[in-house]
Amino acid sequence: MSVSASVLELLACPTCRGDLRGSASLRCEACGVDYEIKNDIPDLRVPSEARTETVREFYMESPFPGYPPNDTLSGLRGRAARSEFARLLERAVPGDAKVVELGCGTGQTSLFLATADRVVIGADLTRASLELGAGAAKRYGLDSVQFIETDLRTPALKRGAFDVVYSSGVLHHTPNPRASFKSMAELAKPGAIIVLGLYNTYARFPHRLRRGIYKMTGHKFIPFDPILRARDAEPERRRAWLRDQYEHPEEHRHTLAEVQRWFRENDIAYLRTYPNALIGAEPLEGGELFVPAEDDWGFENVLSQVAWATSLGKEGGLWITIGQKNADKIAKKNA
Ligand SMILES: C[S@@+](CC[C@H](N)C(=O)[O-])C[C@H]1O[C@@H](n2cnc3c(N)ncnc32)[C@H](O)[C@@H]1O
Ligand SMILES: [Zn+2]
Repeated sequence: MSVSASVLELLACPTCRGDLRGSASLRCEACGVDYEIKNDIPDLRVPSEARTETVREFYMESPFPGYPPNDTLSGLRGRAARSEFARLLERAVPGDAKVVELGCGTGQTSLFLATADRVVIGADLTRASLELGAGAAKRYGLDSVQFIETDLRTPALKRGAFDVVYSSGVLHHTPNPRASFKSMAELAKPGAIIVLGLYNTYARFPHRLRRGIYKMTGHKFIPFDPILRARDAEPERRRAWLRDQYEHPEEHRHTLAEVQRWFRENDIAYLRTYPNALIGAEPLEGGELFVPAEDDWGFENVLSQVAWATSLGKEGGLWITIGQKNADKIAKKNA
C-alpha cells in the first residue's frame, strides 16, 4: 500500500522540511534524501541523542499499550465508548479534520479517530508499536489512518497543517518537554486545537509512593494498582504497563500552571482541562470539550490538581489540557 495523496501533503522532510514525493519510497524534493517505506510505515526518523534512543529501545521491547488478544474494531470502539473522555473527543473533532497523534504508541486513539472524512496520522518513534497499529488498521479495514516513524522534535510533518494536534502520555518521556511542546504547537493551523495529556505533579504522587514500595521490596510488591490487577490474564499488556509505569528511564511531571505558560509562549489560548479544573462543574456534553471553560482561577486549579491525586492517582495521574492556536488573532480578525 502506498502513501495516499491526502497524507503526502501533510508530510515533510524531517531534515529540511521540503515536500516529499513517491510511492514505493519517499524522496525529498528539496534535499533529495530518500526515505524507505517498510511494512506500509514510512521511516522518517532522523537519529536522536542517547536519552531518546534509550526511550525508543525501551518501547521497542514493550510496545505500549498493546492490544488484548483477538481484539476487534468493535472491541476497540466498545472500550472507547465506556470512556467519557473518548466520547467527548469523538464528538468534538470535526468530521473532516486533519489530525496528528504524536507518540501514538500502538495506535488505539488514531484508529478510534479514523472515522468520517478525517485524515489521521499516527506518529511515533518506535517501529514495534507502529507495526502493531498498522496491523490493526489492516485487520479492521481502516484506510484513513497512516502510521509514520518519526521523532516529534524533528517531525516529518508539515508545520501549520493540522486541525487537531493530539499527544497523550508522551512529552513527559522526552528530555525537554517544554521544547517538545514547541514542536507540537508548530504543527497546528491557526485556530487548530491542541490536546495534551501529561502526568500531573500532584496527581502522580500516589503512584510515586507505589513505585517507591516496588523498588524498596526489590521489585516484588506493588500495592493498589487496579490496572495491573485488571491485566493479570494478559501477560504482555501487564508487562507493558509495569515497565511504562514502574521502570521508565525518562519521566517528568507537570502542573497546569506550567502547561499554561507553555501555551502562552506558543500563542495557544487555554481552553480547559479534562477532568475539569472547575470545582463542582456540570459534566460536559456533546462537542463541549473544545469550548473554553467558564473560569480559570489559579487557586482553584491547584485545589483541583490536589484532588486529582485521589481520582486520577489510581491510574497514574494523567490529565489533559486543551488549547487553541492563535485564538486571539482569529477573534480580532472576525470582530
Ligand atoms: C506511554 S507511551 C503512550 C502511547 C499512547 N499515546 C497512549 O497513550 O497509549 C509513550 C509513547 O511515546 C513515544 N515517544 C517517546 N518519545 C518520542 C519522541 N521523541 N517522538 C515520538 N514519539 C515518542 C514512545 O515511543 C511511546 O510509544
Ligand atoms: Zn529534505
